[in-house]
Amino acid sequence: MEIDFLSLIRKKREGLELTKKEIEFFIKKLINREIPDYQVSAFLMAIYFQGLSFEETANLTLAMMNSGKILKFKEKYVVDKHSTGGVGDKVSLILAPILAALGLKIPMIAGRALGHTGGTIDKLASIPNFKTKLTYQECQEAIKKVGFFIVEQSEEIVPADRYLYSLRDATATIESIPLITASIMSKKLAEGIKFLLLDIKTGNGAFLEKLAEAKKLAKTIIKIGKLLGKKISIFITDMNQPLGKAVGNSLEVIEAIEFLKGNQPMDLKKIIFTFAQEILLRTKLVENKKEAKKLVNEVIKKGKALRKFQELIKNQRGDERIIENYDLLPKARYQEDYLALKSGYLSFIDTKKLGFLNNFLGGGRTKMEDEIDYSVGFVFVKKLGEKVEKDKPILRIYANDKVKLKEVKKQMKEVILIKENKPKLPPLIYWYGRT
Ligand code: URA
Repeated sequence: MEIDFLSLIRKKREGLELTKKEIEFFIKKLINREIPDYQVSAFLMAIYFQGLSFEETANLTLAMMNSGKILKFKEKYVVDKHSTGGVGDKVSLILAPILAALGLKIPMIAGRALGHTGGTIDKLASIPNFKTKLTYQECQEAIKKVGFFIVEQSEEIVPADRYLYSLRDATATIESIPLITASIMSKKLAEGIKFLLLDIKTGNGAFLEKLAEAKKLAKTIIKIGKLLGKKISIFITDMNQPLGKAVGNSLEVIEAIEFLKGNQPMDLKKIIFTFAQEILLRTKLVENKKEAKKLVNEVIKKGKALRKFQELIKNQRGDERIIENYDLLPKARYQEDYLALKSGYLSFIDTKKLGFLNNFLGGGRTKMEDEIDYSVGFVFVKKLGEKVEKDKPILRIYANDKVKLKEVKKQMKEVILIKENKPKLPPLIYWYGRT
């Protein structure tokens, strides 16, 4: 008997387990556009509340991976890094060119902004003319020619995640461990990589705010990795403040370029070097961390990593002149400092609220079809734990709308907390695991 999708929604709503065949039916119907959005949304909400067993999660991951073509590479060192999403998380924009400059191949399929977090693809889309989709053939050529590419899901590669990802963003169904697992792993398995480094964010700006939840996701992904024989390293890292200093699409592109030019905020530097070292060690390109650090420093100092980033932009038809001329990037009309209300220490940042304020300024979506304003966002002058002085800037706000700018300034009182005593800082890295 033909399965009908409404009965699957009911089944999941009641918390019953779906079979492999039913999950494959869902994905097939989804990519053929044979299920209306309202039914897919209801199904996602049922999964959000009822969860999925490990077997269902693995079956969903595989069905999503097989919804499009799977990339294949003959090269030896084909690797990738992915993050569960954060505020100001521009690590992929920096790490990928560093690794490519060291001879690794990185076929990166990334996402657009999700909820209050930024997306690598939206950041790159802020570069004039940058093409965020490549055909299967162009992906293969980019690996040979440049060593890496960064693209979004397409009709050809993981179309199921392309559709579910944007629907989850608009239906408040992001924070689900099985849905995050299937979304990330379907993309990463379709890349044809030999090794994956996964950065799971936790803290008040992450989807999984509690460390216990982040560990649950890590363990599910390790189990999937083992099941499919994939080499994976996972770091759970802190998201109780933006990573680095900039939040917002073109502002983060500038910060990434500056990093490759040698201007490296401490927290971002630690994360980049730790991840690069792990990847170089696990691919056996180096024998120890010291050697890895030396290589990474070298490609940055000699400008090789920056040139790789420029090559990526050129290969994906973007305006590569932005590397030297930031004025070619979208620029906000208004820039205003948010000043400390009193002297003391920067003790707390409501990072999720900050991400939503960036969306409010136009930097993110509330509906699938929303256009993004790439120029808006924030640049911090102070980081958590630093001394601040009354009436001195904590951050700068970038906006294109005066009314919204005023509202954000007002709301900022709830985002930033200053206390008399120096706060205890959270660690940058909480946990590490691997297959
Ligand atoms: N990144 C993804 O690719 N998918 C998610 O669901 C969350 C983060």
